Amino acid sequence: MKEQLERIRSAAEAAIREAADEQTLEESRVRFLGKKGELTALLRGMGSLPPEERPTVGALVNTVRTQLEEALKERFEQLRAQGLERRLRAETVDVTLPAPEKPVGHLHPITRTRNRMAEIFTGMGFSIAEGPEVESAYNNFDALNAPADHPSRDETDTFYFSDDVLLRTQTSPVQIRAMAGKTPPIRIISPGRVYRSDVADATHSPMFHQCEGLVVDRGITMGDLKGTLDAFAKAMFGSRTRIRFRPHNFPFTEPSAEVDVSCFVCGGKGCRLCKGEGWIEILGAGMVHPNVLRAGGIDPEVYSGFAFGMGIERVAMTMYGIDDLRLLFENDRRFLDQF
Ligand code: DAH
Repeated sequence: MKEQLERIRSAAEAAIREAADEQTLEESRVRFLGKKGELTALLRGMGSLPPEERPTVGALVNTVRTQLEEALKERFEQLRAQGLERRLRAETVDVTLPAPEKPVGHLHPITRTRNRMAEIFTGMGFSIAEGPEVESAYNNFDALNAPADHPSRDETDTFYFSDDVLLRTQTSPVQIRAMAGKTPPIRIISPGRVYRSDVADATHSPMFHQCEGLVVDRGITMGDLKGTLDAFAKAMFGSRTRIRFRPHNFPFTEPSAEVDVSCFVCGGKGCRLCKGEGWIEILGAGMVHPNVLRAGGIDPEVYSGFAFGMGIERVAMTMYGIDDLRLLFENDRRFLDQF
């Protein structure tokens, strides 16, 4: 039995010494000291010994067990330390390497343009009004004095949900909402999305953005409209910018005008940006038609007002020198990263 014990001891010691990793070492532990291990089996076999030998052999087996346990523990620690050492060497971090780039996003040019417009007008005392993109035909057309046969009402131009519900074709219906139930003075702008049944090309998109403006009070004149838009144009495009009114026709204003700004690149001489015109059209405007005031519940005998509507893409494209509207909606980062 003592010989057997010696054999197990030297086999176990060799296995512990040679184990190259923690898993092999664990296997050796099970093999010798586990429940079904060799040393355990030897201990069980002690029953066949004569009773007087049992205590000495038992003590011997236990000594060997303790020694092996200690050797195992030591080897486990060694292997763990070696493993750590190896990983530390393999996974060194070079702190002098440039850090991976973390790209920081920025606002879309349309958002930037809209924010700048809002900033300028709120600075002049306007507040921001919102209206729904799904609008009634009444607010979008009838209340805005657009006659039943107005071409913009046509099914081929407007996205209808039903005869009386549609995707708004302009931000002008917010005028009606801004007046309803309110007593002037009213001073609002309303930026937002609008929809028209257009095929996308360099200057058209079925969805685009407008910024509406409305002022209603006693004694509001076309002079107020001009002064407001002149101040806006100078703030938006530069202090040397001038504006020009050309007569036009909108159902909801009388008189109506299209408004141009002098080209901020050439100052009016004519260049590529303004296509040789010296002027760039940016909005429609006019004095609010009495029918529209009435539709908003406001007495045109007491109050008057002006309104304007501006294409946000148009302004953004002018400011950033973008020549194709579609670029603004494709969200190609190679394009957007330029701004
Ligand atoms: N709603 C017009 C459009 O979509 C733009 C417009 C013109 C708005 C004149 C106005 C205005 O408020 O007075 O073309």
